[in-house]
Amino acid sequence: MPAVVVVGGQWGDEGKGRVVDLLAEKAHIVARYSAGNNAGHTVVNALGEFRLHLVPAGIFYPDKQCVIGNGVAIDPGVFLEEVDELESRGVSVQGRLFVSDRAHLVMPYHILIDGADEGLRGKAAIGTTGRGVGPCFVDKVARLGIRMADLIDDESLSQRLSLVLPYKNTILERVYGAQSLSYEKLFAEYADYGRRLIPFVADTAQLVREALAKGQTVLLEGAQGSLLDLDFGTYEYVTSSVPSSLAGGAALGIGIGPQQISAILGVYKSYTTRVGHGPMPTELLDETGVQLREGGPRPEYGATTGRPRRCGWFDAVAACHSARINGLSAVALTRLDVLDQFASIKICYAYRLDGRETRNFPASAAALAKAQPVYEEMPGWLTDTSGVRRLEELPPQARAYIRRIEELLEVPVHLVSVGPEREQAMLLKPIL
Ligand code: IMP
Repeated sequence: MPAVVVVGGQWGDEGKGRVVDLLAEKAHIVARYSAGNNAGHTVVNALGEFRLHLVPAGIFYPDKQCVIGNGVAIDPGVFLEEVDELESRGVSVQGRLFVSDRAHLVMPYHILIDGADEGLRGKAAIGTTGRGVGPCFVDKVARLGIRMADLIDDESLSQRLSLVLPYKNTILERVYGAQSLSYEKLFAEYADYGRRLIPFVADTAQLVREALAKGQTVLLEGAQGSLLDLDFGTYEYVTSSVPSSLAGGAALGIGIGPQQISAILGVYKSYTTRVGHGPMPTELLDETGVQLREGGPRPEYGATTGRPRRCGWFDAVAACHSARINGLSAVALTRLDVLDQFASIKICYAYRLDGRETRNFPASAAALAKAQPVYEEMPGWLTDTSGVRRLEELPPQARAYIRRIEELLEVPVHLVSVGPEREQAMLLKPIL
């Protein structure tokens, strides 16, 4: 089995990290191909609980190689902190964690601009994670970026920084009324990061291609959710990754051809959550929303910012849209156990928009904000499923719920998880 992509099917935080952690056992390489440390994965395993923002979730298997591809925006300070944290807790990364020499760097001015832009937008703020990732991708397409290959070479770093920093300082001072940044300080800090990063920097596209040529399995781990995509998400309340975190971005963000991708797994929560601003038709502002947020073993708060996640019933219109734009071949359904507490469960199968029922996901955020969810209701199971390991052991109502989601998405469910621990999952059909 060559390259397999794992993407989030909703607005992020679907549990991609825990699914990749589970699948990584059978992979040779686990790679990130998009976004930056705006993403956050929580992985719970025998070593404890880990929150990763840049390092792929496969790092917990000592025999796996992990790759951060050219499509990822890397804050070198955050990357090195994650490495230090992993090493200090017994996870050795030396010689098996690689970062693309083509990846762009998140610089301190990106973080300043991220915050300042949000302020300028006022009520129309996006609710970004504030990690500077959007402005970093802006600079990538504006050809003002600084890349890993520059960072590990003092001369190149000095050249790039002396070109880019005066430009950025002008914008910081004149547009945002902020203080400019000192070249000397920035150069010293980043040159030091560069020296520490040398052992990790590689031509990762070559590494991945060689593995695929040997018939090895490469897991390509998407970040965020498909509904945050620049083109197909709820624009402008989206993230800015270039390439996209959609399955189509995986080939570009790692440096392989699309034909080398053999399977695309979409990860969906059994209900819907979102952090940040923007429309979310099934959002529940009542007691049920609170129960969804607080009622599971791991309450719904953002892994990166700690913000409470907005919660609601499963939105099959949005989910179907993301299944199509990714061309999913399989689905993983996570956090089914959170629904154990409800006597009755709703699924939104259509929107009511301008007096008509539709199953299309509108392009305009303004239209989506007006869309009213049309629900069907299914009986709940009011049974603890966290200990279930086989589909047949699930209450019939839970199996019916899974079947209904399969029908609505028109994609088979291959994996269901019922808790954060690695073994709290059931494989219904093989993925790798
Ligand atoms: P940015 O990516 O920090 O620019 O934020 C843009 C939007 O994407 C905001 O609504 C964020 O809350 C959201 N976002 C970014 N990364 C994640 C993630 O990993 N999970 C969920 N939402 C995210």
